[in-house]
Amino acid sequence: VRHLLGIKEITPADIQLIFETADNFKEVLNRPIKKVPSLRDITIANVFFENSTRTRLSFELAQKRLSADIVNFSASGSSVKKGETLLDTVNNILAMKVDMIVMRHASAGAPHFLSKHIKANVVNAGDGTHEHPTQALLDAFSIREKLGEVAGKKIAIIGDILHSRVALSNIFALQKLGAEVMVCGPVTLLPRYISALGVKVELNVRKALEWCDVANVLRIQLERQQMKYFPSLREYTLYYGIDKKLLDSLNKEIVIMHPGPINRGVELSSDAADSQQAIILNQVENGVAIRMAVLYLLASRV
Ligand code: CP
Repeated sequence: VRHLLGIKEITPADIQLIFETADNFKEVLNRPIKKVPSLRDITIANVFFENSTRTRLSFELAQKRLSADIVNFSASGSSVKKGETLLDTVNNILAMKVDMIVMRHASAGAPHFLSKHIKANVVNAGDGTHEHPTQALLDAFSIREKLGEVAGKKIAIIGDILHSRVALSNIFALQKLGAEVMVCGPVTLLPRYISALGVKVELNVRKALEWCDVANVLRIQLERQQMKYFPSLREYTLYYGIDKKLLDSLNKEIVIMHPGPINRGVELSSDAADSQQAIILNQVENGVAIRMAVLYLLASRV
């Protein structure tokens, strides 16, 4: 495998190999000296055409822990603003002897396009509303860590499924690992093709929470909405907002996840996000080990 473009393109065995490699790197990250020389001869460019906190910093830390040389590119403040194309931008970066591109782009399919036109490895760090493969890998890895395994677990993905690349990559990853997947949200925020993906669909958030072992809660992606959607944020919170009172009223304790950034008080209240049921910061911690594993395996062409 030369690229990580999406979870759709990789096998359950690929995911297991990434998890086993991440287990080893997680052990390294818990040592006083967190650095290994594995990618000492590799240069990686982080090319971000969209904003990011977690993904960008976690890729950068993963690369530093692996001893890679890195350069960071943000579209804002670059010659993209003067009209330079994606391919010209990346080819100019590659001319400086870069081996691997980690890219986030607002357009679905941009990393796939790039992978067909350049020789370097491409890692998709999120492409529009399409896929966010390393997020799904770290989410599934965090479920495995918390519950022992993913197979047989019931996972509800709750929120703005229509605009979420996290939702699609999570569905692919969790199904490949043998979990049962449900999506829950207002019908206006569910894609028309959703039932073709083999997931359960639930419009009532209490019923979704009563069904699941794990709730992966997503934010409303206002930046991707072309028109004024129903529901408004206030209506969304009224009908779909999850707080500790709702969690405490269930007959079991479920695990709460969120890929971030959280809109506190909209999809998730602070008392739920900060409760001991939430593993949100564990997800962030695991992101570094997962991204180390992905970069290491791609560089090794395993
Ligand atoms: N989860 C995630 O992709 O967060 P960022 O947008 O901050 O990278």
